[in-house]
Order: sequence, then structure tokens, then C-alpha cells
Amino acid sequence: MRERLEQLKHEALEELKSVLDAKRLDELRVKYQGKKGKLTEILRGMGGLSAEERPVIGQLANEVRDAIDAAVTTHAERFEREETERRLASETIDVTLPGRKLPRGAVHPLMQVIQEIEEIFIGMGYQIAEGPEVETDYHNFEALNLPKDHPARDMQDSFYITEELLLRTHTSPVQVRTMQRMDGEVPIKVICPGKVYRRDDDDATHSFQFHQIEGLVIGKNIRMSDLKGTLLTFIQKLFGEDAQIRMRPSFFPFTEPSAEVDVMYKKKGATEPSWLEILGCGMVHPRVLEMSGYDPEQYSGFAFGMGAERIAMLKYGIDDIRHFYNNDERFLKQFARQ
Ligand code: DAH
Repeated sequence: MRERLEQLKHEALEELKSVLDAKRLDELRVKYQGKKGKLTEILRGMGGLSAEERPVIGQLANEVRDAIDAAVTTHAERFEREETERRLASETIDVTLPGRKLPRGAVHPLMQVIQEIEEIFIGMGYQIAEGPEVETDYHNFEALNLPKDHPARDMQDSFYITEELLLRTHTSPVQVRTMQRMDGEVPIKVICPGKVYRRDDDDATHSFQFHQIEGLVIGKNIRMSDLKGTLLTFIQKLFGEDAQIRMRPSFFPFTEPSAEVDVMYKKKGATEPSWLEILGCGMVHPRVLEMSGYDPEQYSGFAFGMGAERIAMLKYGIDDIRHFYNNDERFLKQFARQ
């Protein structure tokens, strides 16, 4: 029995030496130490041993079992380590690889111009005011000194929703809403950017929907010279320090006197600079002040309004207003800030 045990130990350790994977290792473990394994089989025969022999053989059997156990464990650990290393190697992240490029959006050129204009006026102490695009006839026309049947209403062909509701034709109703909200308080210094709608046929310079930026200042002793100084500062910030402006007399029902402002500007592609019309403005009409709760004997103010598309077209040399709305990436990408 002793020889059988020695023989078994030798045989098992030899066989284990050449084992190459975990599956084979397990097969060998079962072969020797499993319920029907070779060692178990020998141990079963121990019942027939004498009392003196039994402890000696028992000890030897334990040694054999331990030796096989140790060999199995060593191999099992090695396989596990190798498996971990293999996995780590296959899952390695190369941090030096360049990242995947994600397509990045950009602020629309029109919104860039509006934001730039907002920032210039915020820098001069203005606040931003907003109003609804579906507007009442009262705010859009009447409170701006354009009563029903006033011929000047024809200047702004409108989309009516009902008799009393329409898509606003300009941002000037936000003047009215701001005065109503301020309820007689001064000073008022706001600009109001937003969408406006007119029944125009779309072409290179017209769109049924476009953007305006309105300005309104109300206080005590506000004069035409304040208006001119404000606009000159604004234009020079937007178009450059040497930009010049001129005011031409004009007519708007909500301002008196009224003017149109031209800027001396060299359009992209032009050889000479020329005067280009850029906005409408004037001193707020006493009737307009009065209707929104400001006593024209005490308060005065100026207002102005400009088309955002027109300014963006001048600034960037864009020749067709429709470029702003077609969402052609080749156009838009040129304005993406890096
Ligand atoms: N609302 C005018 C328009 O759409 C623009 C305008 C002109 C606004 C003079 C003003 C202003 O505030 O004073 O044509």
C-alpha cells in the first residue's frame, strides 16, 4: 500500500506538471481526489490494515493528498493570474489616442449680431425687455399713435388673427408694454430684440418674418442730442471707431421729430464707402407718452428701431436675407466661433 501511495503521488505530480489550462487541471483533480478518484480508492482499502500500520499509512496518505493539493493550488493560481493579465492586456485603454470628434453646433450668425448689440447696450446701462409675438392691435398700433384707419398703418402690412389680434409688425409695442409695466416710474432704458412679421413676398431683401431691436429711453430732460450721442457710440462699437452717422428727417407716427440714421460704411466688395440706412428713431411722441401714463410736460424720451438682418448683412457683406433661414451649413459654418 505504501508503494501504491508513493507511486500515485509520483504519477499525479508528473501529470500535473504538464497541465496547460484550468479545465484540464480540474479533470486531474477529480481523477485523483474526486469521490471516485484514485487516492480515495486507495484510502478506502485502509480498513484492512493492521492497527500498527494504519497510522503510518494514514500519515503517508495525508502527505500525498497535501502534495497533490499544493500542486493543484499552485497551478490554479497561475492560471488565474494569467487570465487576469490576458484580460487586462485586451482591455487596455490607450490614453494617447486622439478623441472622437463630435459635431459641434454654433450660435446662428443672426443671434450673434443680436447678442453683440445687446452687450453694447447692456454696457451703457440698458436692460432687455421682451413682449409677445401675437400682439393686440392696441399695443402694436393704437398706443403708438396709429389709430384705426391711420394711413401709416399701410406701411406695415400685417397678419391679422382676429380684428384685435395680429402678429406684431415691429418691436415698438414692447415700448408700450414697458411703459405700462413701469407705471410712471423713470428712468426707463431698455432694448427689445425679437421676431416681427409682415405680409411681404420673400426676396433677397424681404422676409415675411425677420428680427428687430427696439430701444426706448424715458426720463427727465432727455433730448435729441442724447439720442444722437447714444447712436453714435453704439454704431462705433458695432462697426468700428471711425464709423460716422448722419440723421435725415423722416416720419414715424410714434416719434416727433423723427429721423432715419445712415452709417458711412464700406460694404464688403465695394471700393468706396457710402451712406447706408441703418435705423429709424426719434423723440417719443407726446401722445405716446400720455397714452401709457407718462406726462409729456414732465418726461421726455427717445426711441429707435433697427432690423437685425439688415445690420448683419451690412456687417458681414451678406447679399440675400434668405441665407439666414435656409439652414445651409456651408453658410452657417463661416460664422462659427472657434
Ligand atoms: N417701428 C419702426 C419700424 O418697424 C422702426 C422704428 C422707427 C422704431 C422709429 C422706433 C422709432 O422706435 O423711434 O419700421
